[in-house]
Formats: sequence, structure tokens, C-alpha cells
Amino acid sequence: MTATAQPGPAGAAALSASARDHLWLHFARHSAFEDTDIPVIERGEGAYIYDTNGKRYLDGLAGLFAVQVGHGREELAQAAAEQTRKLAYFPLWSHAHPSAVHLAERLAAGAPGDLNRVFFTVSGGESVETAWKLAKQYFKLTGKPTKHKVISRSMAYHGTSQGALSITGIPGAKADFEPLVPSAIKVPNTNFYRAPEHADDLVAFGRWAADQIEQAILMEGADTVAAVFLEPLQNTGGCFPPPPGYWQRVREICDAHDVLLVSDEVICAFGRLGHDFGANRYGYQPDMITVAKGLTSGYAPLGAVLASDRLMEPFLQGPNIFMHGSTYGGHPVSCAVAMANLDLMEGEGLYQHVQDNESAFRSTLDKLRDLPIVGDVRGAGYFYGIELVKDKATKQTFTAEESERVLRGYLSSALFDNGLYCRADDRAEPVVQLSPPLICDQSHFDEMEQILRVSLEKSWQLL
Ligand SMILES: Cc1ncc(COP(=O)(O)O)c(C=O)c1O
Repeated sequence: MTATAQPGPAGAAALSASARDHLWLHFARHSAFEDTDIPVIERGEGAYIYDTNGKRYLDGLAGLFAVQVGHGREELAQAAAEQTRKLAYFPLWSHAHPSAVHLAERLAAGAPGDLNRVFFTVSGGESVETAWKLAKQYFKLTGKPTKHKVISRSMAYHGTSQGALSITGIPGAKADFEPLVPSAIKVPNTNFYRAPEHADDLVAFGRWAADQIEQAILMEGADTVAAVFLEPLQNTGGCFPPPPGYWQRVREICDAHDVLLVSDEVICAFGRLGHDFGANRYGYQPDMITVAKGLTSGYAPLGAVLASDRLMEPFLQGPNIFMHGSTYGGHPVSCAVAMANLDLMEGEGLYQHVQDNESAFRSTLDKLRDLPIVGDVRGAGYFYGIELVKDKATKQTFTAEESERVLRGYLSSALFDNGLYCRADDRAEPVVQLSPPLICDQSHFDEMEQILRVSLEKSWQLL
């Protein structure tokens, strides 16, 4: 009998044991499961997920920043089934299929400015990879063949394939795979809580942080730099919003040095910040936008690069060709699911719902500031990070031992055991990340706050 065929607790235990024997989990320390079960999530409904023992958890991370419309939406299952019956698969290699055409048209209509061209991929990392290759070839075709380098920010995550990992700014995620693709330069991010300059003036800090991009361009030589990759609001490190004026200054710098501005919106698009695109929330014009995740609410894998008319132009000439693609990029079923997902979000007014409720979400999380372990609460839309400290006044952070013992050894599992699926992350300073489905309301915010309060109070005692 297979593990899945057994009913009840015996089936749950067998599944977990089989997972331990055969699954290679992503970004996971397998030794942690020597004596404990691997949690197996088998079902989702609305803002909640359920494990194989039937226990319910509030999905405080929308799976992985993806499940915008919540779990178990029949409309998306229907869209996938209908498309599978009609045309389950066809590639976008010199052919089109209707669901990709409709989706490209819809994305282009919502994107800022003239981002009228959509190159489909399967994932966020592949979109980032694609955007870098596109930037390189664009400059080769337009008489600036030495422009090839990329600039991104410290601690920012942009994916794991070798090019995307080069762009990623998390040293600990890269060290084991060096040497990576060369020519990827890092600049400071917009962590105002730990601002190394202008710590008492947000606008001056933002100007300084943007100017670091120009410094890097000048240092490398503008004739070697192709693109800057930035998230509208940086995830890793715990949700660093852009200071006022930051994006406008970045655009100016990119224009001055003919460097392409890539807005990596793998998390920040499709309502996460209450708008279709993060660039629309903050009012700037990118040359490319990379997306994935919320495009299908995670119901099917799909990513895309949205590119400007200017970038497409040389590829419309004679024999020129972007020698890049994949079997499943723009899969018909994924595109059909994306269309149904965008219909749902539009029909239910979910972007407006996020705008209407984001300040309530923030003020509910702000209540946690009375705890001695909570140093900062920051973010926007339905996307927040809570930074944990040992000393509020000095902002002293955890030692490696404390991170190991309190964050990994207690907090991560305590939150989950107490019914909240979210993420405790110490790739930079220790933070708890929250990014729930966009359907959440005050009752969910309260539930998150209460579970966080209990688990953080106990963490403080353990410190
Ligand atoms: C900003 C950003 N870019 C790229 C990626 C990589 O996306 P994927 O995991 O779909 O490859 C992520 C994933 O979280 C991300 O947050």
C-alpha cells in the first residue's frame, strides 16, 4: 500500500516518513527532520491551509507570496480544466496560442507606459535571467556591445539560476556556487531602520541610496553597465519600502547613463501592494518588469518579462532573433489560469480591497511594538516585515547562536504549531515576514497578531 492510500493518522505519518526518505526539500536543512515529521500540507480553502492531520493554519505568506485570491478557488480549477481539454500544450516557438495572446494583451494594457511586449517564462528566476540576457543583446544590437553588467541591491533575492543568483545580493545563498556569472555589482538597499547615512532624514537617505547606483555606474564605466534590477519594495531583509523620491532619482540616473531599469515585481505585482504593478503604485517607468507568482495566484507556474517598445524594436529587424526560450514558457493552461485569476481579482475588487485595508493591517501589526523584541514593523499593502532585536534602544540584533536557538530552534516552529504559517528569516537581521492572501480582512489580521504576540513573548524569554 502506498503512503497516500492509507486513511487517517497512519496515512499522515506514512506520508511524512516517505517525504523524509524521498523528497529533497528546497532551501531546507534536512537534519532538522531527523526526529520530527516533515509537515505535509494537503488542502487549502480561502486564507487557510490544512495538514494531513486535518490541522488548520492561517496562510500568512500566501504560499510563497503567490496565492493572491486564496486557496480552493473553483473558477481557476475550471479554467485549467477547460484549457486542458481544448489545447493542453503548445509551445510559443514561432507559433502563438490564444490564451498567451489574450494574456499578453491584457498585461500590456495594464503595464505603465509602453511596456507592450510580453515574453513568457515559467518562473520568477527565469524572468530575471531572461531580462538580463535581453538587456545584453539589446545593447549588442544597438551599437553598445560593451554594455553587459548589472547592478542590484544588497540582500535582495532575484532567483537561483546562475545568472539570477549573480544578481541576488545574499552572500550566504551564493558562496557554495561561486564562481557565478561575473559582472553583477551590488549597491546598498533602502533599509532606513539601519541607515548608514542620513538616519534622521528619510528623503536625504533615499537620495543617498539612489546616488549609490550612479556611483557604481561611474565606477564600472557607464559603457559597461546594461541594467539595474530593483524590487519596488525589497523583500529580503524584511520589507524595505522605497523612500519618497527614490524611484524618480533612480530613473533619472538610468536615463543619464543609458542603463535599463528592470522592476523585479515577482512579489510586488498583482495586488501585493494594492496595484496591478508596483511601478504603478510608486509612479515610475521601468524599461522592463519581471513577474511570476501572483500572476496565476500560484495555481499554475508562469512568469513573464514585460518589455518596452524600444527594447523590441531591434528584434523586429531582418534576421535578428532573441535566441532564448523554453518548452513551457507561456504554457496554455498557465495562461488560461492567469486570465481567470485576473478576472477574479478584478471582479472582486481585490486591489482596492488591499488599498482599503492596508492601514488596518499595518496598525494591527503595529500593536506588537509594545513587545521588547519588536524593533521595527515596515512594509506596504499586504506585505510586512517585523524586525526582531535584543535591545530596542540600541537596535542590537541577535548573535548567530541566538538566531539559531531562538529563531530556528523555537520561533519558526512555534508560529506554525500555534496555527500561523509565515516566515522567520535571518538571512539579514532576523525578521518575520507576512504576505497573506489578498482576501484577508481584520479577523485575519487579529489572528496573526495574537499568534505572533504569544510566540514572540516566549521568544523574548528564551533570549
Ligand atoms: C523578487 C524576486 N525575484 C525573483 C524570484 C525568483 O522567483 P522563482 O522562485 O519563481 O524562480 C523571487 C522569488 O521569491 C523574488 O522574490
